Amino acid sequence: MFDALLPLTETQREIQRLARDFAREHIAPFAADWDRRQYFEPALVRQMGELGFLGMLLPEEYDGLGLDASSYLLALEEIAAADASAAVMMSVHNSLPTQMLLNWGSDAQKERYLKPMARGELLGAFALSEPDSGSDAASLRCQAVRDGDHWVLNGTKAWITSGTYDRLVVLVMARTDTADARRGSKGISAFVVTPDMPGFKVGKKENKMGLRASPTVQLVFEDLRVPAENLLGQEGQGFAYAMQSLDHGRLGIAAQSIGIGRAALEAARDYADQRKQFGQPIRQFQAIQFKLADMATRLAAARATLHATAAAKERGERVTQFSSISKLFASETAMFVTDEAVQIFGGYGYVTDYPVEKYLRDAKVTEIYEGTSEIQRVVIARELYA
Ligand code: CAA
Ligand code: FAD
Repeated sequence: MFDALLPLTETQREIQRLARDFAREHIAPFAADWDRRQYFEPALVRQMGELGFLGMLLPEEYDGLGLDASSYLLALEEIAAADASAAVMMSVHNSLPTQMLLNWGSDAQKERYLKPMARGELLGAFALSEPDSGSDAASLRCQAVRDGDHWVLNGTKAWITSGTYDRLVVLVMARTDTADARRGSKGISAFVVTPDMPGFKVGKKENKMGLRASPTVQLVFEDLRVPAENLLGQEGQGFAYAMQSLDHGRLGIAAQSIGIGRAALEAARDYADQRKQFGQPIRQFQAIQFKLADMATRLAAARATLHATAAAKERGERVTQFSSISKLFASETAMFVTDEAVQIFGGYGYVTDYPVEKYLRDAKVTEIYEGTSEIQRVVIARELYA
């Protein structure tokens, strides 16, 4: 659906097909059960790693596939159409920790972490948010104090996607300039942290409305000892690294939103064809046709905007504004489309016998994480004056 609008290369079509086949066989049949049980399937990480889905944007020298942004986003859309939880694991891993290591990691850090991450032997997580610091990310309080050849971290990171996985690599933003809080974003550095470091604890697991097969947890650091060589890039640059990475991460969330929305549209289209009322399929009613048409229109526009932004990124352009536009429009589209899908299913849309109630629950978070819709509007408006 909608591919005619994108000038896809043969490679991009192949990647899309590979992801679609994998998602239909290994994810979609289990998604409802995983959701009910809040179960994260660890085998998925290995399987996705073997197919290259966890190293899509990494160069071949780090065992990645070295693909362009659109190929990655098309694959992510397919995974999200099967299960948004699997998609967020894939999106965070590919967009945030691996890209931070690739862009600012030392040769030793890249050698040590990137290859196993590309192969799915290690899974990436990104720890910016805290219980009292979400949208205002620069207000984070987790502290890192130098102690000889280590940094000692204390604090709590909140909402960490994939945080229960044991073979994890977490990119943690922490305050290294603890003397002068006025330095705000300038006093924040990034660290490469793994669960085997002394002082690393997995805290509260969130019981979520949607995305229930993606474990979201607090990470608690109590005198966590991080070797000095695990500081990423330059001290004091952690906030800028995180923001630049989110410019690209938000494209992943847009692709996830489109995948959820497309699955909802396909389900509603088929249901409207089969369901009869007043002696005819409900698709014969103009009210239903207009809903389907509006759903398709917004999804096509969201997808075109996303891939135009991905192309700009490939050309090396700064995409801060268009990334926020893509994420904002795609996530609000996902909410609109999934809500309409439930409406088209009537009472059957409100129960778990059909997948559309899950799509609606899963869609909501796309308006919240990687910057709320309000924060995307802040970024978009600021950029109008840049
Ligand atoms: N690229 C490069 N640098 C950037 C940047 C960008 N996109 N955005 C900001 N910076 C730099 C600025 O240039 C500035 O540096 P200078 O002082 O040298 O000029 C510095 O960072 C501070 O920037 P701001 O003054 O703009 O910072 P702010 O405090 O006003 O905050 C914000 C800006 C856009 C609101 C930011 O805090 C933000 O994005 N908040 C939302 C947080 C967020 O998205 N969290 C996502 C967590 S991850 C997640 O959720 C994972 C998941 O999906 C599963
Ligand atoms: P708050 O910042 O407290 O916002 C509350 C409300 O106030 C929102 O409506 C917000 O838009 C509004 N608001 C705040 N500031 C402004 C403003 N300036 N203008 C207008 N309105 C404003 N974080 C990570 O670091 N790593 C992860 O892996 C991760 N995964 C997540 C997974 C899930 C399932 C969820 C729910 C969250 C995840 N997050 C993660 C955290 C996520 O990025 C934050 O929840 C998000 O940035 C919002 O922060 P908050 O929840 O503290 O809300």
